Amino acid sequence: MRLKIYGTGSALPAKKVSNDLLSEYMDTSDEWIRSRTGIVNRRLAMEETTSSLAVEAGRKALEDAKAAPEEVEIVIVATFTPDCSLPSTACIVQDQLGLTHAVAFDLNAACSGFLFALNTVQAYFSAGVYRTALVIGAENISKVVDWKDRGTCVLFGDGAGAALCRAEDGAACNFVQKSDGSGGAVLSLKERPIAHLFRECDEKPGKMYMNGQEVFKFAVRKVPECIHEVLDLAYLKPEEVDWYLLHQANKRIISSVAKRLGIPEEKFPTNLEEYGNTSAASIPILLDEVNRKGMLKEGDILVLSGFGAGLTWGACLLEW
Ligand code: ACO
Repeated sequence: MRLKIYGTGSALPAKKVSNDLLSEYMDTSDEWIRSRTGIVNRRLAMEETTSSLAVEAGRKALEDAKAAPEEVEIVIVATFTPDCSLPSTACIVQDQLGLTHAVAFDLNAACSGFLFALNTVQAYFSAGVYRTALVIGAENISKVVDWKDRGTCVLFGDGAGAALCRAEDGAACNFVQKSDGSGGAVLSLKERPIAHLFRECDEKPGKMYMNGQEVFKFAVRKVPECIHEVLDLAYLKPEEVDWYLLHQANKRIISSVAKRLGIPEEKFPTNLEEYGNTSAASIPILLDEVNRKGMLKEGDILVLSGFGAGLTWGACLLEW
């Protein structure tokens, strides 16, 4: 069975924060952020939460697909910034959207999360376990970045994107997904010190740490590699793809991938200018935007590719 996306949705916090506004609070500038990353604005959650954004994006995806809540058999939320450890964000979404027949769980693969969740759903579809799924990427990264680390905090934003998927007859979509835990130290978040009845601890919860240059080198090497790998599985050439929807971390990473594949950048839509890096949410927010702008035609070939902490990375090939 083949996974097909029938509807998309997205949700963003109302508060827009420009590079100029950030430079009033820290030693940075619009010129530095824009030239290094392409980012101009980002949205930061004030009252919104990971689950409220996920619910809004999910509701829009259901509406777009004209799907009834009871039709959904599984909901997966990809996130590394849930509101709480228990219950999972997916269970909150299941309750608030009335997905009464759906099994619900979260998945954490950082910025590759939406892609890994889609592949999980494809596997369930192939095995004949479920036929309708809601896949959501949702993040509230502003609460875990270190606002004193100007090299990292300026890059991220909050938001959520969702896709309603159904199983249909046909060969399964091709996926390539990879992990390399030995590179985990380059992007980490140690939130909870060990403290309990028998162990006192003064340590404060940790904040996100990133070695930007290492992440950059990893991304520009691995993303083209896995895109070639997924194209080879389908005997396709890079130029036969209509749209490349990449994780929105950095414009220079996207330009480098386009160059290495020999594909014009026009085939790589971006929105990081407005939202920064929203981790697991970035690909589904972008997918929703290109869908709602009417850029996707029936039968278009899409490559989605994500990369991030773990390390994790991957690509998938979808027919629209
Ligand atoms: N404003 C002004 N100056 C800054 C800022 C800032 N916000 N941040 C760092 N600088 C300074 C540094 O202190 C340094 O100054 P120095 O030379 O005097 O020491 C200088 O700018 C250069 O810093 P670099 O870190 O070398 O800058 P670089 O050109 O490598 O760009 C960046 C940094 C933008 C972070 C880049 O490495 C990058 O984008 N990496 C990829 C990051 C990424 O995509 N991460 C997300 C992965 S997704 C996930 O899973 C969550």
